[in-house]
Amino acid sequence: MEPKHIAFIMDGNGRWATAHGLGRKDGYAAGLDALKRVLAACVKHKVEVVSVYAFSTENLARPDDEIAAIMNVVKSFNLSYDGDMKIIYMGDIDALDDDVADSVRLVEDRTAGNSQITLNIALNYGAQDDISRACLLSYDHNDFTPKGFEKRLSTAGLPPLDALVRTGGEKRLSNFMLYECAYSELFFLDKMWPDMDGDDVERIFAEFEKRNRKFGK
Ligand code: IPE
Ligand code: IPE
Ligand code: MG
Repeated sequence: MEPKHIAFIMDGNGRWATAHGLGRKDGYAAGLDALKRVLAACVKHKVEVVSVYAFSTENLARPDDEIAAIMNVVKSFNLSYDGDMKIIYMGDIDALDDDVADSVRLVEDRTAGNSQITLNIALNYGAQDDISRACLLSYDHNDFTPKGFEKRLSTAGLPPLDALVRTGGEKRLSNFMLYECAYSELFFLDKMWPDMDGDDVERIFAEFEKRNRKFGK
């Protein structure tokens, strides 16, 4: 079986840039190039949804100039995107600067009718935040059941998360898709995100095929 929904924690951009004698900020543009290579490989494998962690709620504690560099990459991607993917975002977008939030709405509207693959970008996202928001919403709607709760997660309507990949060498989830990864296959790669290419994705898919998914049975 191939994964229908795969997620990437795109970690290691800053360290990659430093190791190449660049400023940390330059790592994010290189990270976008890597994302394009990874997405091309996922399209080839007919993946339905790719979720990526671009910026966590905790990343707001980073220096202002680093946050601005990340948001600039996101904004210019949104404003210039004219491909076939359907692009959606999850996270607290309204809390970001207006120009970034506007670019998110724009690309979501512009790509809403596309059907090639869905790219779900987590921006100013935290799983704990998402879970507590879904709890409150389902309680407010007097629908505080497991289904009512799932309906109010940002990932409602997406296929179950089959696989989760983290680059950059750390073995932790850093508040990403904590509810959704209940039965996901986990992959931890030592390489930095900007070094990712199509062959890495091929290797992940090959290993995914070999894993024995039991779902507790
Ligand atoms: C991950 O790359 C992307 C974001 C947090 C936006 P990092 O910026 O965390 O890169 P490293 O882990 O410091 O190398
Ligand atoms: C996770 O990476 C967030 C993103 C990749 C966007 P971090 O670099 O923020 O995570 P920690 O701080 O190493 O746990
Ligand atoms: Mg990091």
